[in-house]
Amino acid sequence: MSERWTPESWRAKPVQQMPEYPDQAALKAVEQQLAGFPPLVFAGEARKLKKALAKVANGEAFLLQGGDCAESFAEHSADNIRDFFRLFLQMAVVLTFAGGSPVVKVGRIAGQFAKPRSSNTETIDGVELPSYRGDIVNDNAFTAEARIPDPRRQLEAYRQSAATLNLIRAFATGGYANLDNAHRWMLGFVKDAPASSRYREVAERITEALDFMRAIGIDPETHPEMRITDFYTSHEALLLGYEQAMTRVDSTTGDWYDTSGHMVWIGDRTRQLDHAHVEFFRGIRNPIGLKCGPSMTADGLMKLIEVLDPQNTPGRLTLIARFGADKVFDNLPALVRATKREGRNVVWSCDPMHGNTVKAGNYKTRPFDLILAEVKNFFAVHQAEGTHAGGLHLEMTGKNVTECTGGARGMTDADLNDRYHTFCDPRLNAEQALELAFLVAELVKRERAGRIRPEVEAAE
Ligand code: PEP
Ligand code: CO
Repeated sequence: MSERWTPESWRAKPVQQMPEYPDQAALKAVEQQLAGFPPLVFAGEARKLKKALAKVANGEAFLLQGGDCAESFAEHSADNIRDFFRLFLQMAVVLTFAGGSPVVKVGRIAGQFAKPRSSNTETIDGVELPSYRGDIVNDNAFTAEARIPDPRRQLEAYRQSAATLNLIRAFATGGYANLDNAHRWMLGFVKDAPASSRYREVAERITEALDFMRAIGIDPETHPEMRITDFYTSHEALLLGYEQAMTRVDSTTGDWYDTSGHMVWIGDRTRQLDHAHVEFFRGIRNPIGLKCGPSMTADGLMKLIEVLDPQNTPGRLTLIARFGADKVFDNLPALVRATKREGRNVVWSCDPMHGNTVKAGNYKTRPFDLILAEVKNFFAVHQAEGTHAGGLHLEMTGKNVTECTGGARGMTDADLNDRYHTFCDPRLNAEQALELAFLVAELVKRERAGRIRPEVEAAE
């Protein structure tokens, strides 16, 4: 891996999960056009996120990352973005307050379009067609024509990402993200939620804290940090031609950044050491993620870390564990021990979605209890190993969909048919996601208390 890196050096390597475009000339023309478009994010912002993630790596903050499994062209609307952003902020407030921890906010949004698939084809009623690979590649409709990869979709994905990011920036800095607002929305949730008494106490404590701050003159009018928030974007950088076109030299440092999002990650299916995705990622300076599923070994992980983060830079690498609730104890401890033994400054985050997908009739779903169990097991492993359970990576939407079962409202398999809207994997709906945030906040708080107590004793 010591060969020279360029934004296109990945092209000489074997590659997984890449669409086969029938019209190569059109693909080339689109990639050239994209390469001339303005960056979506700036290198300085990616560096700021890296610094924030360094705090997570150091045990001083918590990462909340989440959004759609796959963004879609059809669901692109101001309402959807607003509802998602609103939900995300409420979760962040709960985790910050109840967890007693600063929260680094990263959406799976404004670029989360390309999907890896377990099978190259999909069969319905005896008809076999190429799989849907995300709106940036082909169309979800089940016809031969729709499933042909069309490069022009990359231009549409860029346009949608830019528009989404524009609205998010406005929300994050224009007053909408005001702490009082987030708190008020959260109270609305607590009032209507089926398990509300459980959350009411936390909500009341936040109200008291805000009242107290206001009484001593700290409010959003006088303190910009209470009305502005840092919100970052992320996606799986799967479609390497698109990512290459968005990769630019930062004029202030001379380093390469993938300007399609602040953070990008490598999926569990494309993390082969000598393949194209790892090659591309090693050369960009963004903070990056690496999904770690059941086939990841401690030795394999150490080799990947050596290539992806040779300088051991805190905040550079987030390891996203996604094993399945029942596999966490078998798989995670060896990986955590290896990173600890080698003194690796990584963030450990938990994706409790991708290892807990089950079939319910014609639907893919995820039971809330399994999702929660994976998170609990993740925290338990870190507690046992003396490491920081650094973050949570979710598939969620601000809409009231019926895709995951369980949660306080007790959604059943029979309810899935009502509003099953996802283009790919089942997402937590707004209520389920916020409920999970309350439950995870308790785990974060417990971890912090465990760390603080020995110091108190030592001081006595
Ligand atoms: C995803 O995050 O949508 C995904 C495909 O995850 P994984 O690579 O972990 O399977
Ligand atoms: Co997914």
